[in-house]
Amino acid sequence: MADARPFHWEYQEPPVQREAVRVEGGRPLKGEVAVSGSKNAALKLLAAATLTGERCRFTNVPEIADVRVMVETLRDLGVVVDHPAANTYEVAAGDVDWLFVPLEAAAKMRASFILLGPLLARFGRVIISNPGGDRIGRRPVNLHVEAMKRLGAEISYKNGYYFARSPGRLRGGDVQFPSVTVMGTENAILAAVLADGHTSIRPAAQEPEIDDLIDFLRKMGADVTRSAPDVIEVEGRRRLRGADHRVTPDRIEAGTFMIAAAVTGGDVMLRHAPTSQLGAFLEVLDRVGVSVTPDGESIRVQGRSGAEYEATDIETAPYPGLATDLQPPTAVLLTRASGTSRIHEAIFEDRLEWLAELGRMGADVDIVDDHHATVTGPSTLRGCELEMSDLRAGASLILAALAADGESLIHGAHQVRRGYENIERKFLDLGARIAHVSEG
Ligand code: EPZ
Repeated sequence: MADARPFHWEYQEPPVQREAVRVEGGRPLKGEVAVSGSKNAALKLLAAATLTGERCRFTNVPEIADVRVMVETLRDLGVVVDHPAANTYEVAAGDVDWLFVPLEAAAKMRASFILLGPLLARFGRVIISNPGGDRIGRRPVNLHVEAMKRLGAEISYKNGYYFARSPGRLRGGDVQFPSVTVMGTENAILAAVLADGHTSIRPAAQEPEIDDLIDFLRKMGADVTRSAPDVIEVEGRRRLRGADHRVTPDRIEAGTFMIAAAVTGGDVMLRHAPTSQLGAFLEVLDRVGVSVTPDGESIRVQGRSGAEYEATDIETAPYPGLATDLQPPTAVLLTRASGTSRIHEAIFEDRLEWLAELGRMGADVDIVDDHHATVTGPSTLRGCELEMSDLRAGASLILAALAADGESLIHGAHQVRRGYENIERKFLDLGARIAHVSEG
């Protein structure tokens, strides 16, 4: 007889291999860095490949933990996923065995929920776990569920799982979101492309990764257009064909390395940078006084060694506004700006908590409430022992450690491996003193 005590059906984060990053700061970064493919495009493209039984081939896929989780999840469904070369994946979703996305996948990665739309549209049923994801807010999925119901799906919720089915083919319809949702928009598109009839989605998110997804869907034979910047129209098709696609570059990784150059007083050239996708971010760097020289898909960033930058207020917003994922790296830059900068994180609640770690390094930060903080500088950051709380805050602690005097040891480094390909290698090649430390 198993242990007689009642089992507590609550999710326990699986014990992760404790990893850390050791950094010796104070060295200006110099040289070239190649921007990898976008995490937030690649995950949706891999999911979109389940819309057909034919083979789809993706190149420029970032070799990151979240991609591996998505690949494992697809394979667990019975989807054939080959990995013939670095950054290349081939997907063939013939007959899948199970239409079940387990708690383990969802707990590791919120983006697993993007499988709801395509599996529902293609197979008519799916059981999918309510996702966890980054600790940057409640992260509900109610808007996704409402959109599926709008397209004719029946969805019930039980014990942490959504049970979704569509009697027959999904029906096109008008999806009206109360507010912009990136993956909500993507799930609606991925359901509508095989639905019977016309679907309009508004307000549709405008993130560039969505246009990369639409580009791929069109290659599959889908009829998807933006009739206005925030309106997407879909004419459903009975079936879609396989297609090849190169993943768009990662604008968040690009912005992260630009801040690294700025805060270390370095001189860095980014290659394969999605310059046209960084408008609002470039405006912030300009206000702060960072020298940025875009040239096609290259961007040169020259930091100021010692000289001060100018404080400025920043506010995150859905694209084309300032990306919330670039708010944490920008906060590190603002520690070196003279004056007080106000941060308004308008998208997620508690995406500012990590600033307390920055404060432990000597930054003068004040977390006003869930959505507002101030950073006053310039302050000299001191290396110390730190803990990563989520992906973007984790990368930002590395930026702070690179800029700081002395050595830092940052625990929880598995967080940053979720979304940045070869991050230590890339920084080493720019002259940083950084090493991965396994903590057993
Ligand atoms: C995507 O998350 C990205 N993730 C996030 O990047 C990014 O920060 C976010 O968009 C905003 O740009 C992926 O693409 C995998 P939302 P998503 O739906 O789609 C609320 C990273 O580090 N909301 O646009 O989940 C939500 O709570 C990650 O790469 C609901 O209330 O974000 C938030 O306040 C972090 N109900 C707001 O909407 C819902 O059903 C915007 O969220 C859905 C969302």
